[in-house]
Amino acid sequence: MVLPPRLNGTGVPPNGEGFKEKNYTQGNGEHRATYKSIKGSFKYGENLVPHYDWFDGQMIYTTIESQFDPAKGPVEINGFHNDGKSRIWPFKRMVTVQPYDKGNNTMVYMHLWGDDNDAYWGNYDFGRAIKVGMAKNDIPYSGKFDFVETYSFWPITHMVAPKEDAMGCADCHSREGRLNELEGFYMPGRDSFRWLDILGYLALGGALLGVLLHGLLRKLFSNNNQQRDAS
Ligand code: HEC
Repeated sequence: MVLPPRLNGTGVPPNGEGFKEKNYTQGNGEHRATYKSIKGSFKYGENLVPHYDWFDGQMIYTTIESQFDPAKGPVEINGFHNDGKSRIWPFKRMVTVQPYDKGNNTMVYMHLWGDDNDAYWGNYDFGRAIKVGMAKNDIPYSGKFDFVETYSFWPITHMVAPKEDAMGCADCHSREGRLNELEGFYMPGRDSFRWLDILGYLALGGALLGVLLHGLLRKLFSNNNQQRDAS
């Protein structure tokens, strides 16, 4: 995490009050905080390509009881079933860094605010805030914490792009397309299952040939019939 120079590399504001820096201006002109003492640094993005995943409408949540393996990369705060009923769905993916219990491999509760010396929003001391937060909620805590990257997924049902920005076929149907990481189906133009493509072209070619041949034969026979009728 990059701390603003004013904090002297410690993250602790001199008077405990905390401050904000608003260095991001979004598309509609509104300013957003890029640093808040109580929450850390923020990065924003607009007009992003969504994350696509299989989704059957039900979320699976990582709760305070869920154990995870921090060595396996980012922890998904919510995730999805991929069963026979799932469909491909677009999501916003929020990437966060947060503390976790290093001994038990669970997330932690923090004592954030209050009129006491242990509240994080005042002393900015993760160790104390976690210890008190866990004790208050009667949750076992190993006493050691570290930080993990976490993902939260927000299903997109609004913010559909205007028609000028409608996707072209190659946005999905190409190797580097927006569905390139999604598994479980065959997509023409992306997957290199050569013989299936060739079979497809052959079938298409065959069908065309059939249509032409059929047309030709019909024409020949109708000519014959006309001749016969005339005679
Ligand atoms: C948002 C992503 C996306 C876009 C854009 C898109 N497709 Fe697809 N397309 C898919 C997916 C996913 C499948 C596979 C569906 C399946 O297997 O059930 C598919 C399948 C197909 C298939 C195979 C159908 C079948 O029955 O197997 C064809 C043909 C196709 N698309 C043509 C197009 C054309 C032409 C366009 C542009 C006009 C287009 N697609 C745009 C995602 C997309």
